[in-house]
Amino acid sequence: TAYAILSGLVGSEMCIRDRFGCMFTGLLFLAVIIGSIVFHVWTPWWWTDIASNWSAMDDTIILSFWIGGGVFILVCLFMVYCIFRYQYKEGRRSEYKPEDKKLEKGLTWLTTIGVVALLAPGLVVWNNYIRVPDNAIQVEVMAWQWGWKYRLPGQDGKLGASNNRIISDDNPYGLNIDDPNGKDDVFVESNELHLLKDRPVKILLRSIDVLHNFYVPQFRSKMDAVPGTITFYWFEPNKNGEYEVLCAEYCGVAHYAMRGKVVVEDKGSYNKWLSEQETFSSFTAKNINNKLNKKKLVKINNLSSNKNSILKEQDVR
Ligand code: CUA
Repeated sequence: TAYAILSGLVGSEMCIRDRFGCMFTGLLFLAVIIGSIVFHVWTPWWWTDIASNWSAMDDTIILSFWIGGGVFILVCLFMVYCIFRYQYKEGRRSEYKPEDKKLEKGLTWLTTIGVVALLAPGLVVWNNYIRVPDNAIQVEVMAWQWGWKYRLPGQDGKLGASNNRIISDDNPYGLNIDDPNGKDDVFVESNELHLLKDRPVKILLRSIDVLHNFYVPQFRSKMDAVPGTITFYWFEPNKNGEYEVLCAEYCGVAHYAMRGKVVVEDKGSYNKWLSEQETFSSFTAKNINNKLNKKKLVKINNLSSNKNSILKEQDVR
């Protein structure tokens, strides 16, 4: 539209000079309108296939296209009309009309209806987007510079309480070790997440450093992960397949590489995958073992470097 208005101004300038300039500008305008419609219909950048319940997202965007596109076409056609209708004629004077109550009223109402139609459907969809169904599986998405990892509730269906301030090598998700709900939590320390088909998921977003945004285009849903707080939304994957995860918030030099994979599958393969993941308790136990082994190693190393050590190298001289 800005381009159209600009060429309109240039056009009226040209109209003052000659009729051909006027004709040219009018045709240019028509070309812009037709070109825009043709590109919209034949665009190579249309959405991916949808694989979730959120067709309402598509509907609201299509509605925005209709309203925005309709206004664009009307404004452009009006300017084409003006270029021809009001072109320069010797002796013709422009009319001075500082105020037109009727026109202003009409335009105000039209704009109001347009803006309401653009915003209201989005509010309705948003309301559904954050009202999570009771049978949703909780999935925690943990974003970091630069990758993803996940946490799922264990048998109890509940995620243990967490706090970013207590994140450490021993506790990569910052879980409250006194919370019994966290003991059976499942750690997915990989950028590949599996989801059950036709079962709603509640996505809980966390970030350990800066803003990120968990986005799978096929699910149509996304939200920022904000360090220090937990944001959430829900969706229901309804098509088996592998989908790419993208970070949709600029988060530093490797933002482009912050990709992952979501696999939507049936119960059998989902449960198999789930059973291969590690729980918080097994992670902690393994970690303690590693530490003990490390201590033993340190001891052995100390012994061998000790002057009185029986492992001391023989003097070759
Ligand atoms: Cu994380 Cu961009």
